[in-house]
Amino acid sequence: MAPIKLVAGNWKMNGSLSGARLLAEEIAAKSAPTARRRVAVCPPFPLLSSVGAFLKGSGVLLGAQDCHAHEKGAHTGDVSAKLLSEVGCRIVIVGHSERRTDHRETDDMVRAKAEAALAAGLDPIVCVGETEAERDAGRTKDVVERQVPASWPKGGTVERCVIAYEPVWAIGTGKTPTVGDVAEVHSHIRSVVAKLGVAAENLAILYGGSVKGSNAPELMAVPGVDGALVGGASLDAADFLKIVNACQ
Ligand code: 13P
Repeated sequence: MAPIKLVAGNWKMNGSLSGARLLAEEIAAKSAPTARRRVAVCPPFPLLSSVGAFLKGSGVLLGAQDCHAHEKGAHTGDVSAKLLSEVGCRIVIVGHSERRTDHRETDDMVRAKAEAALAAGLDPIVCVGETEAERDAGRTKDVVERQVPASWPKGGTVERCVIAYEPVWAIGTGKTPTVGDVAEVHSHIRSVVAKLGVAAENLAILYGGSVKGSNAPELMAVPGVDGALVGGASLDAADFLKIVNACQ
């Protein structure tokens, strides 16, 4: 059985309450759920409850951009997976490269967050990907070979977990790897996951990094690409919907 595909919009630190309503309602109205593909939007924390209400009944899933590894406690500014679940999230992104860089998140921290997500009933999207320097040094496969097993949650299954391959140099730059490179890295990630004793052939591996409506048909057709994690283009309903429609 092929993996269920996923197109997730990562709004990052963008949006306003009024803008979120327009964006979420248009996506909700125009991305009918299918048996083979899920759609999610991941707004900033303060917008989660409102966006959840705008999406209600549409089948579009609500996701968060991060969670803390602990269920509660003295962690000023952090948010627990349990609370995210309570406000209606079904999905949470963990280990995004912006968090690995800006907040010095390590693979261990990412794994702990993914485990907290699972315990709270959220499906984690675990992000991996090499920097430009690592790519230039020919180390892309080594990087994902380190990140994937170290970030994969204990007890994680392909029904609950998703991996997003996001080359750091492709994020927000308009640059993308060749389709051949994407296919090769996705296949490598799948083989690394298989070594963890997981049914990797059924794992959804998303591509992320400068996905737009214009390049989505090509990128979403790459063998082993099971959807997209979309940044900038997810803030434009029409462009995001083109990506959704390219992923059947
Ligand atoms: P862009 O689509 O803006 O390149 O961002 C990708 C990303 O980081 C999604 O998580």
